Amino acid sequence: MKLSIFRILFIFSLVSISSAASSAGFRFKTEGSKVQDAISFVSPYAEDNQRCFKCHGQEKYEYTNATLGRQVRALMCSERIVRKAEFYQSNHKSFSCTDCHSSEYVNFPHPGELRMEQKFNCIDCHGGDEKFAQYHFEEIDSEYRQSTHFKLESDGFTCWKCHNPHSYKITVRNSENLKETIAYDNAICLNCHSDFSKFQLLTDKAEMNIIQKHDWLPNQSVHFANVRCIECHTKVNNNIPVSHQIRPKGEAVKLCNECHSKNSLLMASLYKFESKEQRRDGFFNGIILNGSYVIGANRNEYLNLLSLVIFAGVIVVIVIHIIFRIRKSKKTK
Ligand code: HEC
Ligand code: HEC
Ligand code: HEC
Ligand code: HEC
Ligand code: HEC
Ligand code: HEC
Ligand code: HEC
Repeated sequence: MKLSIFRILFIFSLVSISSAASSAGFRFKTEGSKVQDAISFVSPYAEDNQRCFKCHGQEKYEYTNATLGRQVRALMCSERIVRKAEFYQSNHKSFSCTDCHSSEYVNFPHPGELRMEQKFNCIDCHGGDEKFAQYHFEEIDSEYRQSTHFKLESDGFTCWKCHNPHSYKITVRNSENLKETIAYDNAICLNCHSDFSKFQLLTDKAEMNIIQKHDWLPNQSVHFANVRCIECHTKVNNNIPVSHQIRPKGEAVKLCNECHSKNSLLMASLYKFESKEQRRDGFFNGIILNGSYVIGANRNEYLNLLSLVIFAGVIVVIVIHIIFRIRKSKKTK
């Protein structure tokens, strides 16, 4: 009787230790706190920009038709809408619209020749600038030149096609919530790869069905929520934070164990920005803290130790049990 209570207590305590140990990892900030940046940002050009936002800031705009001599209301086409809140949270929030666009745009109707306006490229402003050295613009530029999209440059593909000039903001670098970052980055690709109207502006190719093209991947929705397109479609480059060399489809990652293994490629890409601090207990905790568990890629020394302890505990219980039984059987004899 005494023995079985002892045994139950012992096993119970082992179970509670092990579950506490494994849940501790999940407790820290799995549901990320949203980045509370820039809500309070006040642009030095707020008033200037308002001249443009009054028409480009929403679906509807108004102007005075000089011929009719009255106010006219019209719809702004969705492609020409610039969302104010997004603009003032973007990397270029401190800009005036007319830093990048001709100041002639203050006139309406806009002069026709403005359609031919030349636009700056990233590298025109960021190239060779010490202040932005940490981003490695030059290397990103040369990777882009080797990427599969570069052949579409003459049809209008530029860095701006992935980095929306009015809303792009650095995300993975400051990520507090990996799932949101993954969604943000994947939306960049899906902007064309799930919207044929944008896709066909750049190519004569027939529409590709992304879901169907990836049906070899089990649990597609789980994968697309947990890895970025660029994990499989770019070549890992350790010199730059976000690899930009998108390879032809034949070179995409298809082998499961490129991710589902101890030296998963994700360590050099998606999880690159996990701080050393978070990683001090090995890869395991850095990833667990972000709420994902990649089968095969995670290994924790503590859990290994714990399983040894449990094993030893079980042996001890069995030995004690045997001793008691032997004693008991001796007594009854
Ligand atoms: C009275 C309303 C109105 C105002 C104010 C206005 N726009 Fe426009 N804008 C339009 C409309 C309508 C179009 C689409 C028709 C066209 O291209 O003229 C347009 C088109 C554009 C285009 C796209 C041209 C193209 O190549 O297709 C740009 C860029 C632009 N506006 C920038 C600006 C900037 C910058 C400002 C502020 C300095 C501004 N607009 C102010 C109504 C306005
Ligand atoms: C950092 C530079 C930059 C700033 C600042 C900027 N734009 Fe633009 N804008 C661009 C570029 C580049 C394009 C062309 C995008 C493309 O080719 O996909 C563009 C395109 C446009 C278009 C045409 C939409 C289209 O897709 O062709 C409109 C309208 C426009 N901008 C309005 C504005 C307004 C209004 C502001 C200020 C609130 C503004 N822009 C601020 C760089 C900028
Ligand atoms: C007209 C010049 C100009 C162009 C074109 C331009 N940038 Fe910038 N960019 C700047 C300036 C200036 C800043 C700093 C803004 C500030 O500090 O408020 C900046 C800020 C940034 C930042 C944030 C840097 C930080 O540390 O906060 C990133 C990232 C960035 N740009 C990326 C790009 C990319 C990608 C492109 C092209 C798609 C691009 N920029 C095009 C001038 C430009
Ligand atoms: C096919 C899409 C695509 C194209 C084209 C592209 N980028 Fe990017 N870029 C991305 C994605 C996705 C990210 C990750 C965004 C994030 O989470 O911060 C990124 C991130 C960046 C960053 C931030 C990296 C960091 O350290 O935080 C810079 C700078 C940048 N791109 C510059 C460029 C320049 C310059 C070009 C053109 C030569 C370019 N990009 C073209 C998709 C693209
Ligand atoms: C787990 C790895 C993986 C992920 C994640 C992934 N892909 Fe793929 N993708 C592949 C492979 C492998 C192929 C080649 C399939 C084939 O040839 O049958 C491919 C093919 C493609 C193709 C070419 C289709 C064609 O027929 O020409 C496109 C476009 C594409 N992927 C875009 C994306 C986009 C956009 C995302 C993100 C939403 C994404 N991929 C996520 C591995 C991946
Ligand atoms: C502005 C639109 C646009 C964006 C954004 C875009 N793509 Fe593409 N992509 C295209 C077009 C158009 C093609 C077809 C090129 C052709 O004609 O062969 C293509 C082709 C591809 C291919 C197939 C290459 C091959 O070998 O046939 C892959 C893979 C791909 N894109 C991945 C991506 C990924 C990953 C992203 C996001 C980081 C992305 N794309 C963002 C327009 C886009
Ligand atoms: C680009 C890296 C990558 C590749 C390649 C990859 N996976 Fe995954 N896989 C992941 C990640 C990340 C998760 C999500 C872990 C999580 O749930 O947080 C995952 C989850 C899974 C899951 C669990 C799904 C669920 O319901 O929780 C299975 C099963 C799986 N992968 C099987 C495969 C197989 C089979 C292949 C090869 C055909 C493959 N994976 C290729 C990264 C990858």
